[in-house]
This record gives sequence, structure tokens and C-alpha cells, in this order.
Amino acid sequence: MQNNEDKFKKIIAHAKEYGFVFQSSEIYDGLSAVYDYAQNGVELKNNIKNYWWKSMVQMNENIVGIDSAIFMHPTVWKASGHLGAFNDPMIDNKDSKKRYRADVLVEDYMAKIEAKINKDISKARKRFGEAFDENEFRTTNGRIKDRQSKIESISGRLYGAMEAEDLKAIKTLIEDLEIVCPVSGSKNWTDVRQFNLMFSTQMGSVSEDADEIYLRPETAQGIFVNYLNVQKTGRMKIPFGIAQIGKAFRNEIVARQFIFRMREFEQMEMQFFVRPGEELKWFEHWKKRRIAWHKALGIPEENYRFHDHEKLAHYANAASDIEYQFPFGFKELEGIHSRTDFDLSAHQKFSNKKLQYFDPELNKSYVPYVIETSIGLDRMFLSILSYAYKEEKLIDGSMRVVLAIPPVLAPVKAAILPLTKKDGLPEKAREVMNTLKQDYLCQYDEKDAIGKRYRRQDAIGTPYCITVDHQSLKDNTVTIRDRDSMQQERIDISKLSEIIKEKLSIKFY
Ligand code: GAP
Repeated sequence: MQNNEDKFKKIIAHAKEYGFVFQSSEIYDGLSAVYDYAQNGVELKNNIKNYWWKSMVQMNENIVGIDSAIFMHPTVWKASGHLGAFNDPMIDNKDSKKRYRADVLVEDYMAKIEAKINKDISKARKRFGEAFDENEFRTTNGRIKDRQSKIESISGRLYGAMEAEDLKAIKTLIEDLEIVCPVSGSKNWTDVRQFNLMFSTQMGSVSEDADEIYLRPETAQGIFVNYLNVQKTGRMKIPFGIAQIGKAFRNEIVARQFIFRMREFEQMEMQFFVRPGEELKWFEHWKKRRIAWHKALGIPEENYRFHDHEKLAHYANAASDIEYQFPFGFKELEGIHSRTDFDLSAHQKFSNKKLQYFDPELNKSYVPYVIETSIGLDRMFLSILSYAYKEEKLIDGSMRVVLAIPPVLAPVKAAILPLTKKDGLPEKAREVMNTLKQDYLCQYDEKDAIGKRYRRQDAIGTPYCITVDHQSLKDNTVTIRDRDSMQQERIDISKLSEIIKEKLSIKFY
């Protein structure tokens, strides 16, 4: 059986080979943590965006969308706290000249201890078989208890120091644990310093007059600064939401795991403006709605879990992540945050403009509270690929690689395949293609044996292959093959569009 690391490598290779994701500027050896979406990738990405946008904007009468600029007035980032506090602690190794996130070095150290614990547990499971009780083993085995308490002590020191922004204490912890640079193998570290994650550039034609501005690190601020414009021009009444999909940029120190952590990525965010005091009710509401959105795709429930934050950011009074089980473990896919009135009040203060809403039912004005749902489009893409990639052994002993992408998100919905290149079959197949492409992205393919063409479509996740054969010329029927079951059904050409529509339908939440 392949391990998860192998599976992840295969997914990355498949994404390249079948035109989903390419490394940016590959001919120049690539640009670290920046990726391009290829011909199939962009379709999958657009379908995810549509699924999200419909669920937010079309299904909710009180949510509208905007598309704000990436560049914003620099004071926005002072008000939001990003200029002062959007930092990661970093440390350099003086010998290799490599830079690391100091907290990640310690977390990797803890992960190694955790891996040892897991190894002991799986050995014991093999030894004791059915009778094995993991919980009892964890609480009674001396070696495991020692390792577990070591992890707890390290994590207490790390997160305590992070919260207190005590950079010296983080350095001491790295020294105490004798962590070495993975490249040089030395313990020759610099001090830990704060590193701001925002990219900056200059706006203005003359360098002396130019203002330093930033590439937005989140799309949310474009919504906050526009909330009153939207409320007034859209005659919105609280509670109401504003949705946005767009690029965000972060100069991540540790950028790894393919498109999981990128320097240029896309977010789908929705800010929901509510009466102060009602925010926790809406927080629960949006937690339920968002997990239902994920589950409606038909991906197994056990692949998702909530991680409620115990330690909250200073502006939040509740926060929870939806985590997905990626091949490298459960990791954050989406955040749902109750951000209080922190952002709007800060913008009110820094801009000197009133950002209050007059509530006609209460007959008073207030700064609304905000519930935010924020999902990384690229992470959603990766979760779909991770779920969809399957290697299957067929009855005849051969293997197929299939992407079981939920049909509504699949890049190509149907492939039109004439059985042979002669006898008028291509012409008939073109007729079918011309009708179906009015509604769906289809591919026409007449090259190679039919089995090979099926495999090509399986590999990009096309839910339906429609084969035009000699019988089609006689009775206007075709076969439609289901990607997942590989079952074929003969149906009338006139029914194709309706049948595909039915198969692609999804209930929106
Ligand atoms: N406005 C709130 C906000 O930006 P966040 O937790 O920093 O919150 C929200 O980011 C989501 O954006 C994350 O759950 C993740 O899916 C995605 N995300 C954040 N940083 C990312 C990165 N470097 N690469 C890809 N996706 C990222």
C-alpha cells in the first residue's frame, strides 16, 4: 500500500501531467510557492468559484457580491492591524543562510516526537491484535507518557512565548531542544526576528513622491471599507452580507505543500453584518451552513472536522476552522470568525468617517458586528484533488487512474467520442457536440482506441463519455458511460442534455 506522502507526490505529478497546475515560470526553474492554473485547473477553479458564489449570493437574498481593488490606501493596513502585527517569527541559519519560521522549526520537532509515539502504537497494535486498546496504551505505557509530556511542555513554552511575543524565549527554546538546520546540520542560529508578511511596492511616477503601498493580504478589508456604500446603494437591512472572491498575497516564510501555502493565492470571503449581541447566534448559523456546503459535494464526512479556537485573536470573540484531511494530515481549509466590531471601529477611527448603521427597528445607530467566512480557493482545489485522485484495479487486472471530482465541479462535463473515424460517425458526433456545447464544456476526441480515450477522460475527471457508433446512425441513440461505475447506458440523443443536467444537479445550501 502506498503511503500518504507517495499519494501526495502522485497527485502533484498528475496535476501537472493532465493540465491542472504548473509551477510558475517553470522554464526559469520556477518561482517558489507561486503556481499557474492550466487548462483543466482553471475550469475546476471557476466551477468552485461558481458553486461558492451561487450558494452565497444567489441563494441568500440578503447577501450581495463586490469586487474590490487589490491596492488599497496604506492606512487601511494600519487600521486593520496588519502593518503592526501581521508577522511571523523567523530565524536564519548562519551557515546555510536558510531562513525558517522559528515556530515551525519547533513544531516540526514536536511532530517527530509524535511520529515516534505513533510508531510505538502501531507496533503494539500489531502485537496485541484485536485486544489492543489505544487509549489504555497511551495512558499506561511509560515511554509514551514521557514523550507526550515532553510535547506538552514544549508546546506550552512555544505558544506562551508566541503569545507574549517573547522572541528571546523562542530562540532559547530552539537552543534548549538543540534543533539543527536541516540543510547545514549546524546550530549556528541568528536571533529570532519578526517578519511582516505583506508585500509592498511603490505607487507614483516619481520615486521621491511615491507612497509605499501593499498587496492586500486578505480580501476582507475591501469589504469593510465598502460596507456603508453597499448598504446604502443596495438598501440592505441588517443582517446582511457582502461576498467577494479575489487574490491575496502573503510573503510566507515557509511555503510548502504545493498549493496549500502560496505567496499569491485566492480567497472567497463573506462578511455578515449583524446587530451587536446577536453575533454568536450568527456564528453558529454560519458554521452549520458552511459545513453543509462542503458536505453537499458528496465527499465523505469523516474528511472534515471543526477545530474551535481556544486562544482567540484580540479582535475575535469566537473562531473555528473547518479542517480537511489532506494527504499530509488534517489542516485548515476555511475559517469562520466572529470579528466583533473591531475592523469597522478601527476604520471609523483612522478615517474619521462615521461607519454606523441606523437600525430602523431599534431606532438607533451602531457599528455592526461581523461574522466572517473565509475559505482559500486554492486549498479547496487541493482538497478536491486529494479526494478525487484514485488508482483502481479493474476486473481485467489493468489499472486506471480516475479523478472522481464531484460532477458539478468537473472541468469537462462530457466527452463526445465517435467509435471510428469513418462511416459518417465523426459527422454525427460533431452534431451531438454542437448541441451539447451550448450548455456544457465538452471535448471531442476521435484519436486512439475507445478504451484509451475513456482513460484520458477518467484522468481529468470527465463524468460522462458519449460514444457515437453505427447504431447511432440508424436510430439516433448513443451510449453514455458513467466515469465512476464505468456502466454504459444506451439513450436517445434528444434526451442527452436533460440527463446530463440531472446528473450535474446539486442542492445548494
Ligand atoms: N480574512 C480572514 C483571513 O484571511 P486566514 O485564516 O488568514 O483568515 C483564510 O485565511 C483562508 O485563506 C485560510 O483558511 C486558507 O484557506 C486561506 N489561506 C491563507 N493563507 C494562505 C496561503 N498562504 N496560501 C493559500 N491559502 C491560504
